[in-house]
Formats: sequence, structure tokens, C-alpha cells
Amino acid sequence: MKSATPIRAPRILIPYSRLRQEEKMLASAAERLGLPVDFRDVSSLFWPRDFDVAAGDAAVCRCVGQTHNLAVARLLESRGVKTINPSSVMALCGDKIATAARLEAAGIPQPEYAVAASPEAAVEAAETLGYPVVFKPACGSWGRLLAKVSDRPGAEAVAFHKAAMGAAHSVFFIQKYVEKGGSDLRAILLGGQPVSLMRRRSSHWITNTARGGLPEPCGISSPLADLLRRAAEAVGGDFLAVDLFETSCGWLVNEVNGQPEFHGSVEATGLDLAGMLLKYAWNFIPRD
Ligand SMILES: Nc1ncnc2c1ncn2[C@@H]1O[C@H](COP(=O)(O)OP(=O)(O)O)[C@@H](O)[C@H]1O
Ligand SMILES: [Mg+2]
Repeated sequence: MKSATPIRAPRILIPYSRLRQEEKMLASAAERLGLPVDFRDVSSLFWPRDFDVAAGDAAVCRCVGQTHNLAVARLLESRGVKTINPSSVMALCGDKIATAARLEAAGIPQPEYAVAASPEAAVEAAETLGYPVVFKPACGSWGRLLAKVSDRPGAEAVAFHKAAMGAAHSVFFIQKYVEKGGSDLRAILLGGQPVSLMRRRSSHWITNTARGGLPEPCGISSPLADLLRRAAEAVGGDFLAVDLFETSCGWLVNEVNGQPEFHGSVEATGLDLAGMLLKYAWNFIPRD
């Protein structure tokens, strides 16, 4: 039997905190595709008063801050809303140590890394990895607070300064520096399938587009597509950006972003990633 007209029509909720290029792309894609979206600026709202959501809705969580996005996704999930990404995937990808452990368990190649719980042990770890190394905050983005270190005095300086920066910096994540030929690769995956690839080229060792890296289009070979699918399977999730280094020994997965910015990928490839994301989210909404 056909169900009666629902009291409220299902829609794609888009919680956000700033209208970046991506959110503007989502708004125009929704209009073009005629999909019902509901943008909510979380900075002027509070739960539960301002979230009339229910099972059957889907949410594309687009808050800038990882902490905001995670809180919103967890609350929405408590009402049966399908969130993109699931909060568990946001939490995993938001933590570089958790991501490295998950990739390792799945046998995905990544830069050699060490984790230390004191500045003294961090210096020993850097010595053992061999210089140069990169110290990274376990939770961070846009290339912020990364430190490339070339010798023991540098490792000591960074490790002891970090130790004075409070609890968030008290666990040290250190990677071996990878010679990556002036660029890295960023793939976007939707539902576990790679949909776009770009190269980010920079004269700086940090190649994030947020730091001036220039996006170029790039073809996806079938071995790379296989590796990307394996990385997505290891992490889970719906909408991911997988960053890789191309080396003489093959690809290394540097990180998996669970709330990716994608304007650089659109610039490089011309693909309508916003439209693809919305159509993907719409498919989770039950219809007659
Ligand atoms: N181990 C490394 N070797 C070489 N370059 C690195 C390494 N780690 C990071 N980078 C450079 O720094 C950029 C940002 O690092 P990433 O780990 O992705 O941090 P964030 O989460 O801040 O983007 C990478 O895209 C890459 O260009
Ligand atoms: Mg990155």
C-alpha cells in the first residue's frame, strides 16, 4: 500500500559554519538539480531546538571545524539521520594516529612513522626514522603546525616546544619525510569509488591548495584506483579525500580526509563534485 503523504518532506540537511567555495557549489548544484536542501548555520543554532530532523533525512556535514562537524553528526545520528560522513569515520580521519593505525592494519602503504608519548622519546624516534622527518599534530589540517626537521637539535627544539603546548600536542606523530618530486596527489572518493584525481604542485614542501599548491588534472590508472578503493574500504565512509605521495617505490597514502574541501579538485578536473555529492546523499533518502 502506498504510504500517506508525509507530514514533512525528507531533505538533505547541510549543517555548516562558513559558506566556503564548496558550500556555495553545493547550493548552486542543489538548485540546478532540484534537490531539497536545508542549509543550517550551526553557529546561530542549538540542539535540539533548531534541528527538526528525523530518520529518513540525510545530512552532508560541512562545518569547517572537525569538533563542530563531529558533534553535529553524532547528534543527527541519534535521530536516525544518515550523515555524510558517519561520525565514526570523521573521528577516525580527524586523527592522524588513528588513521595511520587503521591503514597499517589494512596493509595500505604509507610513509614510515613513529608515535611517542614524551619529547625525549620523540627525539629518539626521529633519530631512528632518520632525517628529515615531519612532526605533525595528530589532529590538524591545512598544513598547519607541520615541522620538517633535519637534525637532532631541530628535533629537540620542536619536541620540547610542542611539549609546552598542552595536551593536544603531548602525543608526537612523526613521519619520515618523503621525497615526492614537488607535488602530491589528491583523490576524491564517493561511496568507496574514486571519482577525481588531481596533482598539487608547489615549490614549498607543503603542497596543500590552502597553502598555495597549484591543482592540475590527473588520470587515475587502474592500480591506483585499486589502492584507493582499498584505502576507502579500510576507513569506511562515503565522501573522502585520499592524499598520496608518488615515490620511486610506489604510492604512499599520506592521509585520508573525512570532511574534505574539494574546490581545488573541481578547479583541476571541471567535475561537478558538489552535484555528485548531493545526488549520492539523496539516494539514502527513502522514497516511494
Ligand atoms: N612525510 C611527508 N613527506 C613529505 N611531505 C609531506 C609529509 N607529510 C606532509 N607533507 C606535505 O605536507 C602537506 C600536508 O600534510 P598533511 O599530513 O596532509 O597535513 P594536513 O592535514 O595539515 O593537510 C602534504 O600534502 C604534503 O605536501
Ligand atoms: Mg592534508
